[in-house]
Amino acid sequence: MSNDDEVFFKWSPEYSVQIKTIDDQHKVLVDILNRLFVAVSKREGDKAIAGILDALMSYTQKHFSLEERLMYQAHYPDLEAHMEEHRKLIEKLDMLSKKYLLEDKPIYFEMLSFLKTWLREHIMGVDQRYSAALRDVGFSAEAWEQEATAEFAVMSESKKWWELWK
Ligand SMILES: [Fe+2]
Repeated sequence: MSNDDEVFFKWSPEYSVQIKTIDDQHKVLVDILNRLFVAVSKREGDKAIAGILDALMSYTQKHFSLEERLMYQAHYPDLEAHMEEHRKLIEKLDMLSKKYLLEDKPIYFEMLSFLKTWLREHIMGVDQRYSAALRDVGFSAEAWEQEATAEFAVMSESKKWWELWK
């Protein structure tokens, strides 16, 4: 993450869904968006930006699928609608990457603001709703958290997220 005083997307405790592993994943998404903001602001060039877009896409996909698995395991009734939200965002991200990589269109700050607003509203809306529902029925996310952490460890090994922040 950048040391700039002005952070594009600052994490706030009110974003917590009270499942640590999910919060940790959301924080990584926030970090990747901040990294993208810095790269775009400083015109870091295609290679850097393409790498960040790739990280954003694969991390988001993995996070969504793990989150969907958690809701599935808990028999969460609104899983389908939630998956639809995820699917739409992935489509949007895909469009953004393609426009940038194939059509040479710049990434506009409006797009970054859109992603920031989307993530914040998604977390504070549907994500907090499913986590509250899981708590209400007494579902323990512990087994899921262990699985998810192990899967991300394997993925980080091949994707090397930390190289983004060098
Ligand atoms: Fe979600």
